[in-house]
Amino acid sequence: MKNIVLTGFMGTGKSEVSKELSRVLGRKAIDVDTEIEKSQRMKITEIFKQLGEPRFRDIETEMIKKISKNKNVIISTGGGAVLKQENMDTLRENGVIICLTAAPETILKRTSNNNDRPLLQVEEPLKKIRELLEFRMPYYEKADIMIDTEGKTPSEVAGEIIERWKK
Ligand code: S3P
Repeated sequence: MKNIVLTGFMGTGKSEVSKELSRVLGRKAIDVDTEIEKSQRMKITEIFKQLGEPRFRDIETEMIKKISKNKNVIISTGGGAVLKQENMDTLRENGVIICLTAAPETILKRTSNNNDRPLLQVEEPLKKIRELLEFRMPYYEKADIMIDTEGKTPSEVAGEIIERWKK
């Protein structure tokens, strides 16, 4: 069975939905950022601070290659993983790519309760979210399936994924 790969902007619920899919389908869930943090023994914020974003992106690409060797698992990616075509190609080899979306205001609400997203530690996070979303949308749209998470619980989103992925 193909992997289920979740992409999408920060705060679209990838991690929560991934856990829910794992529970319902009885498949292992692997989170790219969590594996990066384990391998570097540093939090993502620390990696950005100490090594910089370009190095983080290289580590991310290597980790995606490693994780994509699995079969029959659920993979959740960081919001910027879609920016490199190489990552998309790797993820697609064994998987179907599902992109979660949400409105900028919802993303702000879901991300403002902690400081663990270095890209959003700015004075006007909503403006930054809008700018990043506009730039990244063509990349997110390369997914096989797009799912709007607005007003839905992680369980509802997981249900919709299962329904649409089976077709
Ligand atoms: C990023 C998203 C983050 C993390 C890093 C960069 C991005 O992951 O990979 O902070 O560029 O959008 P989440 O989407 O899980 O927050």
